[in-house]
Amino acid sequence: MTADQPALVLEQVSRHFGGLKAVDGVNLTVRPGERHAVIGPNGAGKTTLFNLISGELPATGGRVVLFGDEVTALPPHQRAARGIARTFQITKLFPNLTVLENMLLACEALDARKLVMHRALGSYPDMMQRAKAVLADFGLAAFEQETARNLSYGDQRKLEVALSMAGRPRLLLLDEPMAGLSAGESTSMQAILTKLDRSIAVLLIEHDMDIAFAFAERVTVLHQGRVLTEGTKDAVAADPNVQQIYLGTPAQ
Ligand SMILES: Nc1ncnc2c1ncn2[C@@H]1O[C@H](COP(=O)(O)OP(=O)(O)O)[C@@H](O)[C@H]1O
Ligand SMILES: [Mg+2]
Repeated sequence: MTADQPALVLEQVSRHFGGLKAVDGVNLTVRPGERHAVIGPNGAGKTTLFNLISGELPATGGRVVLFGDEVTALPPHQRAARGIARTFQITKLFPNLTVLENMLLACEALDARKLVMHRALGSYPDMMQRAKAVLADFGLAAFEQETARNLSYGDQRKLEVALSMAGRPRLLLLDEPMAGLSAGESTSMQAILTKLDRSIAVLLIEHDMDIAFAFAERVTVLHQGRVLTEGTKDAVAADPNVQQIYLGTPAQ
């Protein structure tokens, strides 16, 4: 990998479901460390696009290039091994394990059976240190021994983002991490996202334009599976087509 190599390049990426073009010929480049928001109305294809990047869904057309290597045909775990992490719109935690156990599981691809024998935990000191450090970064240190399902919804979402950090990703995909949070929880989550290590490129799906524009340097607007516009946040905010989609004002 060279220094100016993009973290992610999408070339004419498509995903059709029968006759429905959920993602239709999308081009996108994300630089290392970039903060990039993907916005667009419900059904625009944002989540499907993430599934194509992470490999949960195979593309029906186009190429996905990750840190210079084509990964279009690779399954999710092989893309994860190359530095992609993602969170889902729906929380995916082990509800009956503690916060620390969830984190430990994420930190190593450890067999869950080893973790239920508590003595085994102490024999992985590096992993334990790393798990605790990440939890502390996310303001979750006080909840280490709490069962995940007992956390507030906001803290569960924070834990989910914390888990995605376990593998030291270089490209993080966040699908509406603020969805369903109270105003206070949302502010707290935004503060955490702002502090994420600058070596990580972050793609954020966010329906609130103010939040998206506060977070990102560059913004892609998806509409009916296609890129309506892409650019710096100032250019995108000033685009009359974007204003029409979001505010219903006619394009000039
Ligand atoms: N597995 C699927 N099978 C059929 N249609 C799907 C599937 N997943 C998504 N879609 C459709 O693709 C379009 C884009 O969906 P999605 O990517 O979830 O949009 P967004 O995240 O922007 O709201 C929608 O019309 C949705 O109904
Ligand atoms: Mg979605």
